[in-house]
Amino acid sequence: MEIKEQLHQSIQEINTAFKTIVTINELNDLKAKYLGKKGVFSQWMLEMKNLPVEEKPQFGQAINIAKAEIMSLFEDFYSQIEQREINEQLAKEVVDISLPGRKFPVGAKHLVSQVIEEVEDLFIGMGYTIKEGPEIEQDLYNFEMLNLPKSHPARDMQDSFYITEELLLRTHTSPVQIRTLLENGGNKPIKIICPGKVYRRDDDDQTHSHQFTQIEALVVDHESTLADLKGTLLLLAKKMFGEDRQIRLRPSYFPFTEPSVEVDISCYKCNGKGCSMCKGSGWIEILGGGMVNNAILEATGYDSKHYQGFAFGVGVERLAILRYGIDDIRAFYINDLRFNQQFK
Ligand code: PHE
Repeated sequence: MEIKEQLHQSIQEINTAFKTIVTINELNDLKAKYLGKKGVFSQWMLEMKNLPVEEKPQFGQAINIAKAEIMSLFEDFYSQIEQREINEQLAKEVVDISLPGRKFPVGAKHLVSQVIEEVEDLFIGMGYTIKEGPEIEQDLYNFEMLNLPKSHPARDMQDSFYITEELLLRTHTSPVQIRTLLENGGNKPIKIICPGKVYRRDDDDQTHSHQFTQIEALVVDHESTLADLKGTLLLLAKKMFGEDRQIRLRPSYFPFTEPSVEVDISCYKCNGKGCSMCKGSGWIEILGGGMVNNAILEATGYDSKHYQGFAFGVGVERLAILRYGIDDIRAFYINDLRFNQQFK
């Protein structure tokens, strides 16, 4: 049948045309040519009017079959082109995983944090727990309950930043010890270290800073003696400044400890012979401590007949300055990365 041949021809034409098609647009044009309003199939539908009635059904059926065939050809082709475009896109976006990566700058933990962690490690190993407290503190805990009443001349040693009459930036971490003593209600042993920032009015220069970091320790038990304090500090000295270190205690004064001591380590530069580091004495002062004043135990509910304790406080920057020969305390706060990066 002539018309069937024509249809067959159309399908072949389309097949050949497909071979040259690259883009979806070209495909759309081709589709319009055959299936559009003015396309080949519309033409045939018009022609159907001129046929004798008995031929119409057969002709219509043939057109429908051919149309379905061509539509499915288009659909196949659409998905082929789509797939090809996706593949091209993927090929364009391929990531070369063999390229060397871009380097991100890696920070260094601040030296103060490192020293705190080192000291914490040592003390945790000895059964201490870590206690922290607020940097804005009550005069009551920072001074009063530490045996430093308002009129006490030793308050001058710690010129303070007051916020109100009763609130100040803590001048040491000893108030954390008072808080812990009070919390424990007078009948529990205590073994803590308290690291943290402290503040004292000072004119900043190479050796002075209005802000620094302390670690204080407090041990309260039925028997905790000055000898225990000395043994503990010897361990700290060895850990921070080497196995050969020795320590010595000199009498000193703090209102919150009695007796009080100043603690020196044997000079790690000359091993005690005397050099510029230790100003010829063979010893370097590192911290203060002593036996907790009974008045403080009593005021916080501990019976000083059954409990005694020792405490000490050490400056973190001081430890680092000595250990690494840092000549300006301000280096800890300026946050010059060249300084920080040296202690990775
Ligand atoms: N709180 C003291 C200071 O900051 C240090 C210290 C702590 C001394 C504990 C003795 C006992 O100077």
